[in-house]
Amino acid sequence: MAEIDDAYLHAGGKAELGVIGTGRMGIRLAAMFARAGRRVVLASRTPGRARQVTEALRIPGLLAGSHGDAFAAPAVLPALFLRDGLAELLEAHAGQLDGTLVIDISNPFNEDYSDYILPWDTSSAEVVQALLPRSRIVGAFKHVFSAVFDAPLFDGSTSDVLVVGDDDQAKARFLALAEGTPFRYLDAGPLRFARTLERLTLITGRVGRQSGYYPRMNWRLLGDAALVPRPGPMDGLVQS
Ligand SMILES: NC(=O)c1ccc[n+]([C@@H]2O[C@H](COP(=O)([O-])OP(=O)(O)OC[C@H]3O[C@@H](n4cnc5c(N)ncnc54)[C@H](OP(=O)(O)O)[C@@H]3O)[C@@H](O)[C@H]2O)c1
Repeated sequence: MAEIDDAYLHAGGKAELGVIGTGRMGIRLAAMFARAGRRVVLASRTPGRARQVTEALRIPGLLAGSHGDAFAAPAVLPALFLRDGLAELLEAHAGQLDGTLVIDISNPFNEDYSDYILPWDTSSAEVVQALLPRSRIVGAFKHVFSAVFDAPLFDGSTSDVLVVGDDDQAKARFLALAEGTPFRYLDAGPLRFARTLERLTLITGRVGRQSGYYPRMNWRLLGDAALVPRPGPMDGLVQS
């Protein structure tokens, strides 16, 4: 395995993705993108914490850095909850994020995870977009529970990540970054569809618990284009 060289960043090497937060999602997503060949800087509020993680994982391309290093990357993935200060953190760095691809994975959970702290007619993704009007927001991974990243295949098959956003170029940049990661990515529409997507997480958790799968479960849209029905004799009998 290649030696990990944190001096790389400071020698002018540019990370492609900055991940903020060394919690359940931050570590796993940083590791996933680095394993797919991206140069990723993982940042923590606690000096030394991100380095401890990267040294334990020893994935080539996964580097430890400061919040400043991570926010300087052309794509940023903040991995913290809205309730824990996501908005305040983004506000503080907004000036640095013009044109930056911001991958929003947040769900607006309350403290005990029983519900969301936002009303139905908005979403965490829209809150992020309002805070960062000159950034390019893509919502993704919102319904994928952290345990899935540890063993992402189900019976040898990938599961889906629904992706929302208003900016097609930003979605394309996101897909390029995600190239080689073990998921199927589906374009799920505009950013406001994050309202549905974020609430899908509530349903995923509930159904997963009832099924005994929690926290290792995810969705895959099943379909068969070859069997899409063509208009037949019965259709002529239907009155609209
Ligand atoms: N957990 C899941 O299965 C899951 C699934 C889909 C989406 N999500 C979303 O992913 C995000 C992170 O969830 P998580 O479960 O990974 O959370 P988590 O385990 O609580 O980790 C969040 C991390 O964010 C950092 N942090 C906390 N407060 C902060 C603040 N005020 N300013 C800056 N950094 C702060 C901390 O890292 P440092 O101590 O290193 O700074 C903390 O470890 C949430 O928005 C959640 O909705 C989670």
